Formats: sequence, structure tokens, C-alpha cells
Amino acid sequence: MTRPTRPRKRVERPIDVRRSTEESLEQAVEGEEEEDTLDLADVDGASIAEAATGEPEEDRTPTEIADKLRETLAGAVIAEVTTVSRTPDAQRPEHGVDLAVEAARGLWLKNPVLTASGTFGQGVEYAELIDVTRLGAFVNKGTTPHARPGNRQYRIAETPAGILNSIGLENPGAEEVARKYGKTWAQLGVPVVVNVAGYSIADYVFVVNALDGTPGVVAFELNVSCPNVEGGMLFGSDPQLAAAVTRAVKAETDKPVIVKMTPNAPDQVVAVARAVEEAGADGITTINTILGMRIDIAKRRPILGTGSGGLSGPAIRPIAVHMTYRVAQAVSIPVIGAGGVTSANDALEFLMAGASAVQVGTATFADPTVPLAVIEGLAAYVRDAGLASIRDVIGVALPRRPLTE
Ligand SMILES: Cc1cc2nc3c(=O)[nH]c(=O)nc-3n(C[C@H](O)[C@H](O)[C@H](O)COP(=O)(O)O)c2cc1C
Repeated sequence: MTRPTRPRKRVERPIDVRRSTEESLEQAVEGEEEEDTLDLADVDGASIAEAATGEPEEDRTPTEIADKLRETLAGAVIAEVTTVSRTPDAQRPEHGVDLAVEAARGLWLKNPVLTASGTFGQGVEYAELIDVTRLGAFVNKGTTPHARPGNRQYRIAETPAGILNSIGLENPGAEEVARKYGKTWAQLGVPVVVNVAGYSIADYVFVVNALDGTPGVVAFELNVSCPNVEGGMLFGSDPQLAAAVTRAVKAETDKPVIVKMTPNAPDQVVAVARAVEEAGADGITTINTILGMRIDIAKRRPILGTGSGGLSGPAIRPIAVHMTYRVAQAVSIPVIGAGGVTSANDALEFLMAGASAVQVGTATFADPTVPLAVIEGLAAYVRDAGLASIRDVIGVALPRRPLTE
């Protein structure tokens, strides 16, 4: 019997063969219009989804939602949400299951699933695609005091189990973000965590002040993977610098402040976590992307315009779980795990390693419904295991804590 041939896949976003796969992938992320296109599947046998996650897409068929995402990405930035897709509470698969967590001190969310900064735009782009109101919260794209164009091409490269990116901190600037999205964030009905980036302490303070009163904003997440202009050292690789930026921001806002660890100074992660807790941080996110590089062997040059970039996706999950496990033991404030979450089981690894919540990033490029599937899967786990709440699994894999089976 002949094996039925797999139907030719429709690609999630068309790829222009006149440009490299990397550039085309970038446009899929950024949403630029394309002409004279050809499937990425025809270029190297992978779809955007596969390229973004590094996972084969055997069981996935193109969905309506992927088509809709493509249309949305091709259009202009949505400043007004016209339709917010919303499932009535009682019809949600997670209905009736206690998934509430304290994701950071003073920040209770209805479930532990957030979307990661830089992978969910400003949230509004996704509101017409998925029911964003089911998310615990979303984190917006890294915001700096003034508009930034981001890095030079190419800014995305495929890797076997994830992607390398060097998008840079492309954003319209703090005041423009507040002006353009504040009204919409208020309508969305999902808590917004603002991701703050800067090159000086004054930059972080500026962004927090500009967005502190913006409707919908419930907390700030400090991206400390940026070099400090005075000295060039990454804020997040030096405990004193990380503490100084945390202290300065805490003095400006009453909202919870979460510090997002860079894994690129691995020996410093625990020291930085302790220092920012001491400086008043209300939570910690582990981790940002891990530095990596690919070489274009034909050009004999790095593929990314910046040379190195940040690796994300399933490739980094074990490292992220390890860092979550270490940090969770070192501090008493909540930890949010991030790095390669694609399923509820991945999320459970982080929770058992001590995270109070997780962020889903790269996986949403392949399928924007993944964060919702993670929520559903966690609810099913709590129900099937007969637990009182998802909080019963937090930290169960840490040393000297009994399993709740
Ligand atoms: C295209 C892209 C852009 C990102 N932009 C930001 C950013 O602006 N600020 C930030 O703190 N992290 C940023 N990140 C890191 C993610 O928020 C997340 O920490 C990391 O990708 C690991 O999660 P994942 O493997 O689920 O993607 C970005 C990641 C990607 C892939």
C-alpha cells in the first residue's frame, strides 16, 4: 500500500526567493508586504511555523487563524481594536479551575500564562485573532524613551530548535506607545506588563513615568539585557547596576517591578537576582534570549547584521528551566519562567522548578493559539491530578519540598 502523500502545505506567510530565507522570515515577523512570492516550503522544506519553532509541523494543517494572522501582519498597526474575540467565561475550557497565581508581589493574575515581550507586538494585533482576555497578561514590546529603528538586516535566522534574532529595540518610543495604545489597552480586558529598556538609569525612569498612568498597565518588566552607556556593561550582568536601576524605578512607581534576567552572564544570575530583590524588585523573569551566531558559508560572514543575536525557542528551554530552578531557591519573590514554552507540559516544568508563571514567546510565531492551549492544558492537569489549584505544583521539584501526589 502506498503511503498517502502529505498534501502540499500552505505556508503561513509567503517568502520572497529573491531575498534570503532569513530576510523573508524577518518580514513574517515584522509584517511587511511582499510580491512575487514562493512558499518557504519550496525553499527548504520548512514552513514559517517550523522555522520559528524548530519543530516539525507534521500534524498541523494551515488554520483559519494563521491566514488571519498573515492578513493582520500585512496590514498597518492597529491602534483601535474593532473586534475583540471573546469566549464567554462559562464556555472556556479552564472555567471552574483555580489557576490564579501571584506572578509578582502584588500582581495576582487569573492564570499563570503570559506572552513574552517582542513576540506579541502591542497585544492589539492579536486581539482579533485569539481571545486575549483568556491570557493571564501580556508583555508589550521593549519600550525605550524615544523611537528606535532596530538593528540592520538580517535580523532573524533559523536554527534547528528555535530562532536567532537581532531585531533590536525597535519601538515608537514611550510617549507614542502610551498615546497610541493606551486607549486600546483599556478596552482589551487583559492586564498589560510594559517591558522597559534603556541605556541609562534615566532611560528606565523616563519610560516608567511615561507609562505609569496608562490604562491597562499593571506592572513593569525591566529588560536589563542592555549595555549601560557609562561603561558599556550590561545592566543585568552586574548586581550593583541591576540593583541601582531597580531602586530608581521602584522610587517612581507603586506598580510591581519585575526584573528580567539575562542568561548571558550565567555566573551572575543568582547574584543579580538577590541584588534586585534586595533593591525592592517584586518579581524576576528567567530568562531573556541566549547569545548565539550562525554563519552564511557562501558569504563567509555571520548571517545576522549584528553578527550575534539572541537564541529563543525550545533550544533554550532546559537552560531556562535550570536558571529558574536556581533563582527560585535564591529569592523569595515570585519568578516567571520563559524560554521555549510550547505546551502545558513545558509550562509545568517551569512551575515545578519554582516559577509562579510562564511566558510564551517564539511559539506564538508558529501558532498564536499556543498560549491558550497552554492554559487549557494546565487546567486539565489540575483537574486530572485532583489538585485544589495550579499553585499546588509551584516549586514541587525544588529540593526538600514534597511532591503533592
Ligand atoms: C523576535 C523577538 C523579540 C524579542 N524582543 C524582546 C524585547 O523587546 N524585550 C525583552 O525583554 N525580550 C525580548 N525577547 C525575548 C523574549 O521575550 C523571551 O524572553 C525569549 O524569547 C525566550 O522565550 P521563548 O523561547 O518562548 O521565545 C524577544 C524575543 C524574540 C524572539
